[in-house]
Amino acid sequence: MKKVIAIIGSARKKATYKAVQEFEKNLKELGNIEFEYIFLHNFHLEFCKGCHSCFNNGEEYCPLKDDRDLLLEKMESADGVILASPNYAFQVSARMKNFLDRFAYFYHRPIFFGKVFTAIVVQGFFGGKDIRKYLETMGKNFGFNPVKGACIKTLDPMTEKQTRKLKKKINKVSKRFFKQIMKSSKPSPSSGRLMMFRISRKLIENLDPKYRDYQYYQENGWFESDYYYETSLGIGKKIAGSLADFIGKQMAKSQ
Ligand SMILES: Cc1cc2nc3c(=O)[nH]c(=O)nc-3n(C[C@H](O)[C@H](O)[C@H](O)COP(=O)(O)O)c2cc1C
Repeated sequence: MKKVIAIIGSARKKATYKAVQEFEKNLKELGNIEFEYIFLHNFHLEFCKGCHSCFNNGEEYCPLKDDRDLLLEKMESADGVILASPNYAFQVSARMKNFLDRFAYFYHRPIFFGKVFTAIVVQGFFGGKDIRKYLETMGKNFGFNPVKGACIKTLDPMTEKQTRKLKKKINKVSKRFFKQIMKSSKPSPSSGRLMMFRISRKLIENLDPKYRDYQYYQENGWFESDYYYETSLGIGKKIAGSLADFIGKQMAKSQ
């Protein structure tokens, strides 16, 4: 049994909800899946104050006392996470953006390795493809293993043609997502991801050890490891990694 959660950034049970329902239906047809809906509007999540405490001192020092850690527990308990948002003014909804801001410390200290991720964006006309890509990048930054999501056009009320298209698109993503969740693997990073890790760790190594990022990298052995987790790197990636170590060192020196 695999657990999947869908974090939903729309306050209505309309098109975004419909797309997620279709996703759930498909996954349950494909295998033994437990599915949970997380409506962000049902959680108390304050706006990030921008104090940097989570980055510098640790997330436990966030001055906001709300449901952040409840949402974290939900993500930790899942094998797969879907972020579903309507397109609002060419971006995710404000609720979804605040959710991402409140967990921004994961971009420094990712944790969700081996968990699968995808993004569903629902929109009226256009702008959603970039939002889907943005969400997929955020998923990677959290440490997830993303599969390509979907951007779906809808009008209110939805026409039959749009409903058929929605089903077709969601069906494709569900299959990709299911296949990946059954593998439960930690993939070998792309050269770009590998280089980002190697460069950022050189910059973090240069920080004052009082910073949480420094301590976290040290505790996890990330100053010495090839990547965030054990993985086999081919010769090309080994060279890319060494090059990134060198670039990172130069960048750290010039700071
Ligand atoms: C505040 C607001 C801004 C929107 N901005 C866009 C937009 O920039 N591009 C677009 O294609 N649709 C836009 N839409 C349309 C929604 O993305 C579309 O209606 C979507 O289906 C809403 O999801 P829901 O039915 O789950 O609430 C906007 C809707 C709202 C309410």
